[in-house]
Amino acid sequence: MEIDLTNLAPTERYRFLTSVVIPRPIAWVTSLSPDGTINAAPFSFFNVFGSKPPLVVLGIGNRPDTGKPKDTVLNIKSSGQFVINTVSEPQAELMAKTSASLPRDESEIDTFGLKTTPSSRISPPRIDGAPVSLECELHSIQEIGQNRLIIAKIVYASVADAFYDPASGTIDTAAMKIIGRMHGPDGYCTTTQIFDIERPD
Ligand SMILES: Cc1cc2nc3c(=O)[nH]c(=O)nc-3n(C[C@H](O)[C@H](O)[C@H](O)COP(=O)(O)O)c2cc1C
Repeated sequence: MEIDLTNLAPTERYRFLTSVVIPRPIAWVTSLSPDGTINAAPFSFFNVFGSKPPLVVLGIGNRPDTGKPKDTVLNIKSSGQFVINTVSEPQAELMAKTSASLPRDESEIDTFGLKTTPSSRISPPRIDGAPVSLECELHSIQEIGQNRLIIAKIVYASVADAFYDPASGTIDTAAMKIIGRMHGPDGYCTTTQIFDIERPD
């Protein structure tokens, strides 16, 4: 099958792209509005894009109900800060609930009974129970069509003690039971079947 993406309707394009680039990691983002409302929302157009400096990129569209920027974008623009919390199997359903389009002054943290802990370097808090939280500061925003590419630097990280071995400085990746995003709006995967392939010299 040959597919010309320019001929697809936006929903078909979304379905195609989200079935092709799989699995995708999920950034469960906490951010703060100017009045102090804590916002939480998941984003799977997300990855790390370098380590010198440590960079993350998020791809955020407009709200489906109003066509206006999502709360996360507004908060990142106004404060320049956000936390990326990784998502484990026990928190999967709660994470999905926080993708609801709530009014700007309603916090997903309160509505869905999440708990948070203060961050170390920035104002938005971490989500309790997240295996890893990455504290990020905005570098720049690229607006391309209705996409906003948020480029940010990671300034601090916290890893749950259960998953970190201080002696070797390594993370027990399988034990974190991180989930990934698969096809369409509702598909997910687990990440516990892990294997190694040695690189050539
Ligand atoms: C697993 C998952 C991944 C998502 N990834 C994205 C994404 O990459 N970009 C996006 O714009 N919306 C994404 N969404 C939808 C947002 O989470 C949703 O629009 C949310 O209401 C945004 O919240 P906010 O307005 O509080 O920022 C995703 C939803 C789920 C459940």
